[in-house]
Amino acid sequence: MDISAEIKKVTDPIYQKISSTVPEIEWATYAPYIYKINRLKKEKNAVILAHNYQTPEIYHGISDFSADSLALAIEASKTKADIIIMCGVHFMAETAKLMSPNKKVLLPDMSAGCSLSSSITGEDVRNLKKQYPGVPVVSYVNTSADVKAETDVCCTSANAVKIVNSLKVKKVIFLPDDYLAKYVASQTDVEIISWKGTCEVHEQFNDEEINEIRKNNPGIKIIAHPECPPDVIKASDFTGSTSGMIKYVKDKQPEKVMMVTECSMSDNVQIDNPKVKFIRPCNLCPHMKKITLPKILDCLENETNEIVMDDITIKKARNSVERMVKIGR
Ligand code: 13P
Ligand code: SF4
Repeated sequence: MDISAEIKKVTDPIYQKISSTVPEIEWATYAPYIYKINRLKKEKNAVILAHNYQTPEIYHGISDFSADSLALAIEASKTKADIIIMCGVHFMAETAKLMSPNKKVLLPDMSAGCSLSSSITGEDVRNLKKQYPGVPVVSYVNTSADVKAETDVCCTSANAVKIVNSLKVKKVIFLPDDYLAKYVASQTDVEIISWKGTCEVHEQFNDEEINEIRKNNPGIKIIAHPECPPDVIKASDFTGSTSGMIKYVKDKQPEKVMMVTECSMSDNVQIDNPKVKFIRPCNLCPHMKKITLPKILDCLENETNEIVMDDITIKKARNSVERMVKIGR
């Protein structure tokens, strides 16, 4: 069989699944990469972890495991692979390295950052600790390893309230997402000291837009990520992590839904829930979109873009992630 016939035979079943979302003309450019990546990852005993915001050809075409940040961190700690390719942003790759320090962790584009993560440094956290002595620090996993190293326990959007309550204290420093901090404060009696970080994607949504969509789509379910501003959360029917939102759609099968979050997630979830109609005003995360099939293939072939950290940072930062993983979802 010639190579193009072989590629077609191997990748056609994947295309059948995602053809409602990915045009055939685009697929023609993706298929050879998908074929090569899937072969090479087996040869190299590599695992591809993908965040829910990755585009369908990555999420459905090459990932071994796709999930929210919490599940990606847990999976990174369990994998038997020699190489982890993180299809996500820099803090996710760093978290994978913390959980598997002896494995090679690669990020297809080292400039894939996050506005939350870049809003705060380890030095900022040291200053806050001086300002509020004895108050425990809970950091969102969307932070650098330097910030995690100064943190008592990490959290994600899936377990933030549970983590804060688990500390059994009156006050916590909660970093760096001001909107997530407000959401947590609305769900707990613990006093929250927050930081002025925001997600550049979720902060763009507003309640006027949501109310308008509800008016024009009677019966629609509107589900929002907790990085959204408080008025958006108030105007929504459900708030949860990316995987929490996916579970909501899977379990409830609403006739119409709007996911108030990054665009690609609706594409991915639509593929798995063909009966649900998605209304899609959405925003793209420019960092997540830096991850592409050619970059993934290049990084897997040449083992470039490795995440490297010093042992002390790994040890200190890892403690805060391990504490979170122990408490769970
Ligand atoms: P989740 O942990 O809910 O997947 O969110 C990560 C993220 O970056 C959302 O913007
Ligand atoms: Fe960061 Fe927002 Fe992008 Fe998530 S969506 S990676 S929080 S910038």
